[in-house]
Amino acid sequence: MEDIKKKYIMALDAGTTSCRAILFNVDGTIHKLSQKEFKQYYPDDAWVEHDALEIWGTMMGVMREVIEFSGISPKEIHCIGITNQRETTVVWDKNTGKPIYNAIVWQCRRTAQMCLEFEEKGLGEMIRLKTGLPIDAYFSASKIKWILDNVDGAMEKANNGELLFGTIDTWLIWNLTRGREHVTDYSNASRTMLFNINELAWDDELLELFGIPKSMMPTPMPSNSIFGHTDKEMLASSQIPISGCAGDQQASLFGQKCLDIGDVKNTYGTGCFVMMNTGENIIRSNNGLITTIAWGIGDKVQYALEGSIFVAGSLIQWLRDSLRMLKTSEQSEKYATAVEDNNGVYVVPAFTGLGAPYWDMYARGTIVGLTRGATKEHIIRACLESIAYQSKDVILDMQKDLNSPIKKLKVDGGASNNSFLMQFQADILGIEVKKSYLSESTALGAALLAGLGCGVYDDLSEVRSMLFDEKKYSPDKNREKYEEYYNNWLRAVNRSLNWKK
Ligand code: G3P
Repeated sequence: MEDIKKKYIMALDAGTTSCRAILFNVDGTIHKLSQKEFKQYYPDDAWVEHDALEIWGTMMGVMREVIEFSGISPKEIHCIGITNQRETTVVWDKNTGKPIYNAIVWQCRRTAQMCLEFEEKGLGEMIRLKTGLPIDAYFSASKIKWILDNVDGAMEKANNGELLFGTIDTWLIWNLTRGREHVTDYSNASRTMLFNINELAWDDELLELFGIPKSMMPTPMPSNSIFGHTDKEMLASSQIPISGCAGDQQASLFGQKCLDIGDVKNTYGTGCFVMMNTGENIIRSNNGLITTIAWGIGDKVQYALEGSIFVAGSLIQWLRDSLRMLKTSEQSEKYATAVEDNNGVYVVPAFTGLGAPYWDMYARGTIVGLTRGATKEHIIRACLESIAYQSKDVILDMQKDLNSPIKKLKVDGGASNNSFLMQFQADILGIEVKKSYLSESTALGAALLAGLGCGVYDDLSEVRSMLFDEKKYSPDKNREKYEEYYNNWLRAVNRSLNWKK
């Protein structure tokens, strides 16, 4: 028999707008990457959907492409790690494998009213204690209920045990294993608003409340489990173990090696996701942050606090596509640094309300401080600065919840390549910002979890010892100026709150 040496770990990163397959060398460096975007559907105001079959097809495509373009054999792949946009909800028929409705995306607000009604029944505290989450349309529970209530015959089929639910990780694993495994990991389960994070199990009371039969739910497992093997007809008869899985923000926390209590990372994507490792302690926020599961490794579970900022990178897209102030997003840095400061201009990008720590769905976008001297450069600079201010809002609250100062911030995501923004982030926070030269922290996290799951790495200490070069941004020593800027930001936020009421 041919003896092929295994050299790679494959990470599959199913994001909100694209699928990526990345081959990692076992030292954590990237061998090859393949990426493809898929379609976004907006069937109604504030509704967002994906075609789950298209996601699967796109993932299959990039997976085959990355193998083909690297000229390797699938037999050289040790294992697969999966990471994904979280909360996005797929319900499919287990006999046909076909979704009964498009995937309802995490950004979709169609169930906001339903969630308000649950809140008005006084269920908020009970749900928060069990799941760590506020009642919100962001999470999967109300999305599943919507599908069961609105698709013809769905409730009956669900009651007959014919339907399955999954977030995108579950959907991909089910397809990779040709329907043999219906599983998820704790980090993804903790985003459904149906998972009891104290007991690490689906919560019967919550399932009943949302009218969801338990038979629809995937088996929750630690993040470095053997979730299944790829079907032998899929990748040149290789049955590769799927041995790592985590939601994308948790995977990036892991990939950034925020493995200890108080370690914080910020991912600057469409929105910003700030996450802090709180170790084996469940910390309940008094400041509007979410308590969530970071990962389960073997029999140990680590928790995290998270603050989601709805508008970050998408603000730069807005400057580019709607205001046409930029030709490319990268130009934002050139314009922002063409002026000395913001000239008193502040932009609050509350396009869809404000998330943590304000949680005001009636807030709307605001530009304040305009004078005749304000230029396009000042507005672009103010937009970039707003991303840093929003991140500071969340980090200040994390400090309060942790009751101890945060000493450094690790960053990743598209906008972390903007040096102006990263320097301003360090200045406004007054702490060091560290950016890894390895830009794919999310996929790396999934690859490392998979490597732990299938024995490529012995234990966490081996993962800790893998070092990647970092670019450091140190804060300006002149603190007074930045305190004044931040106070102005808070005044600007006040103008935007409650606008749409
Ligand atoms: O909670 C939603 C988050 O997981 C989406 O992440 O990177 O796909 O925008 P991303």
